Amino acid sequence: MRQPVSKLLLFGATGDLAQRMLLPSLFGLHADGLLPEDLTITGTARSDHDDASFRKFTKAALDEFLPDDRKDAEAIKTFLHRIGYQPVDASKTEGFPALAENVGDVAGGLAIFLSTAPSLFEATIKGLESVGLAGDTVRIGLEKPLGYDLESSREINDAVASAFPEERIFRIDHYLGKETVQNILALRFGNSFFEPVWNARGIDNVQITIAETVGLEDRAGYYEGAGALRDMVQNHMLQLLALIAMEPPARFDGTAIRDEKAKVFRSLRQIAPEDVPHSTVTGQYGDGAVGGAIVKSYAEELGKPSKTETFVAIKAHVDNWRWQGVPFYLRTGKRMPARRSEIAIQFKAVPHSMFAGRGGVLQPNMLIIRLQPEEYVQLLVMAKEPGLDRDGIRLREVPLNLSMDAEFAGSRRRIAYERLLLDLIEGDQTLFVRRDEVEAQWQWIDAIRKGWDINDVKPKSYGSGSWGPSAAVALTERDGVTWQDD
Ligand code: BG6
Repeated sequence: MRQPVSKLLLFGATGDLAQRMLLPSLFGLHADGLLPEDLTITGTARSDHDDASFRKFTKAALDEFLPDDRKDAEAIKTFLHRIGYQPVDASKTEGFPALAENVGDVAGGLAIFLSTAPSLFEATIKGLESVGLAGDTVRIGLEKPLGYDLESSREINDAVASAFPEERIFRIDHYLGKETVQNILALRFGNSFFEPVWNARGIDNVQITIAETVGLEDRAGYYEGAGALRDMVQNHMLQLLALIAMEPPARFDGTAIRDEKAKVFRSLRQIAPEDVPHSTVTGQYGDGAVGGAIVKSYAEELGKPSKTETFVAIKAHVDNWRWQGVPFYLRTGKRMPARRSEIAIQFKAVPHSMFAGRGGVLQPNMLIIRLQPEEYVQLLVMAKEPGLDRDGIRLREVPLNLSMDAEFAGSRRRIAYERLLLDLIEGDQTLFVRRDEVEAQWQWIDAIRKGWDINDVKPKSYGSGSWGPSAAVALTERDGVTWQDD
């Protein structure tokens, strides 16, 4: 179904994501001539707009969220010509006939993007189906959260599947739209020298960190019911883990890549309830300072005490031949000292050091893939410090550096949604998450939550601006491993 559509229908068009990401991304594609010439974009939400007032709304969003160097008045004007609006209360079927009439003929293909609360998914899909907006030429994109556990995720998947076959469902994990995340595939499968050591013989451990400096950000309603495990680990972190751990796919296409990722999810070792207290750490930020600014605790921001975790660290295992005995340490938290998404791959030490008798100390090699805010790949290797070494040889760890920012300085960094919206419009599912992946991800997450419940695990407080509770340090130090924190 790799056929561009000629219509895009955006549910949740007045929401936060639409303003910050979706409308600016669509504009970015438009300005670069990447959208099909005839593509029209219809926004829909409960808010009472008409075409003219929604265009104004869109213009205001672009003014606020586009970087200054992208604000091309002429391009904005032509972009707004593509935009229309039809108000709909998606929880009721009454509004759908008018929506269908507004959208018109969908023979040329329609892509629908649901950026609404998942509680509305089922009703929306029924509404779409009732007016013929779920036929062969229609595909649907779904924004997270896709459930809060396996059962609710299955319900959503069943509801969507009742109207759309899997090859027309596009589940979004915006991390897959990030250039640097796709670069993991290029690094692993476009180069020959990593593969021979990319396994339990060559690698000692893998660390994946997504640290954020932000706190609750006006999202209390959602976040309080989700927590870091559901919000970040179930989706983004497990997707990163899968890209690191998967077997080489035969082709760069949606089936081959997703088959391999799904196998990783199914190989994740379920953490038994009795192991959960040793294999996981949860935390909740207290007050403190981030970037020099004093910030409130989570409970204070929320206005009441809470048991929701804003930090989680997990020791995970992938039970297959390649990864036997290699821990994957995952860590994510809000109100950390720095915004940083990074994968650190710690290789094994050399089997024998010939430098030992001469005082030289070797560090095992490490590969650091920094996803954001900077984009680079660094291989830490040992080098000899210049000198005559009469008192023993001095070795130092130095980085072999590939800075994507510098190497590709001339090319514009696109936001993840540009890539994903374009793929949705063109019908390429490679960077979208398949049902079996999501459900295997939830299954693993549910076992952890169950362990927390059984053992009555409560998040430990950590100071805002720190790297989480001290127990997170102990999680790796027990194994003789130190989090990569530079
Ligand atoms: C979202 C989470 O999926 O990802 C947010 O709901 C989080 O809580 C965000 O802040 C992080 O995305 P990014 O692209 O800024 O790393």
